[in-house]
Amino acid sequence: MSKSTLSLDGKTVEFTPGQSILEVAQDNGVYIPTLCHLKGTRATGSCRICVVEVKGARTLVASCSTPATPGMEVSTNTEMIHKTRKLITELLISSGTHNCMTCEANGDCRLQDLSYRYGITEKIFPESPQFYPTETENPFIIRDFGRCILCGRCVQACNEVVVNRAIDLGYRGHRAKVVTGDDGPLQLSDCVFCGQCVEVCPVGALTAKKAKGMGRPWEITKVRTTCPYCGVGCQQWLHMKDGRIAKVTAVEDAMPNQGRLCVKGRFAYDFIYSEDRLKTPLIKENGNFREASWDEALDLVATKFKDIIKKDGPDAIAGVSCARSINEDSYQMQKLFRAVIGTNNIDHCART
Ligand code: FES
Repeated sequence: MSKSTLSLDGKTVEFTPGQSILEVAQDNGVYIPTLCHLKGTRATGSCRICVVEVKGARTLVASCSTPATPGMEVSTNTEMIHKTRKLITELLISSGTHNCMTCEANGDCRLQDLSYRYGITEKIFPESPQFYPTETENPFIIRDFGRCILCGRCVQACNEVVVNRAIDLGYRGHRAKVVTGDDGPLQLSDCVFCGQCVEVCPVGALTAKKAKGMGRPWEITKVRTTCPYCGVGCQQWLHMKDGRIAKVTAVEDAMPNQGRLCVKGRFAYDFIYSEDRLKTPLIKENGNFREASWDEALDLVATKFKDIIKKDGPDAIAGVSCARSINEDSYQMQKLFRAVIGTNNIDHCART
């Protein structure tokens, strides 16, 4: 598509028609803070923290929801802009219970970052009372309505990214909240607990239950890995502290999941630490299992295979490959059966 140009803080920059002012700024390394903006979804322009000045416009405009147009003159760094962003931050801080000391998101919170950036040290507006108790009954997600800034990112993630449509914004004014269909608890709603809402929450309103107390953001080392559950190969970050997983998040912009995870990939990692987990092969002798080395176990399997082939031929053996393994492993499995064992009795459990 042909490029157009606009003026960004006095510099002429190119953009592709259809881009927002925010996208043009990001492409050119110009920082504009955001709260409600969620990449890849419809811009709602609800928080207004991304305001910029556009020459000729009557008011400041939200850069995330304003399309860039040719010849536009945009300023992102004026006194008026910073005063407005500071005021918005002060209003948001007063809109609930934002106590960083007891917040799980301390150190990983955009509202905290904005307060720091604008030098906010106290609440200048009276704090709104908390209408809704914190919801902790479901197994995976803590919903702290007192910390919610109603940016709507969780709603967009649920409705537009995952397309599960389990939550929406409900009620009005100071009673507004993120609700399920009948404003009941998450576990009784259409929620599938993929945790995408937690992933995109910019503050501490939605947090992973299992991550509570497991480590502060600055104590965490992130390790990139591939989800072990199915053959899709979703990319995830393991947030590690002292060798243990504190939580799991998706790798943004990485294929194939592009920042999404399912309930298993995000929350079901407890098996790693299970006392019942098999850590060594077991060989059954006289009705009881005993631990064995991999060499011993594999030798035993190979010997049994050879005995069966000798007695009844290779077609007496069949293999079923696991749908959760990667393509390369399934390929190796069929190669083993066809080329080594000598049978075409090989299938895949996805067909069963
Ligand atoms: Fe633009 Fe919220 S980030 S209005």
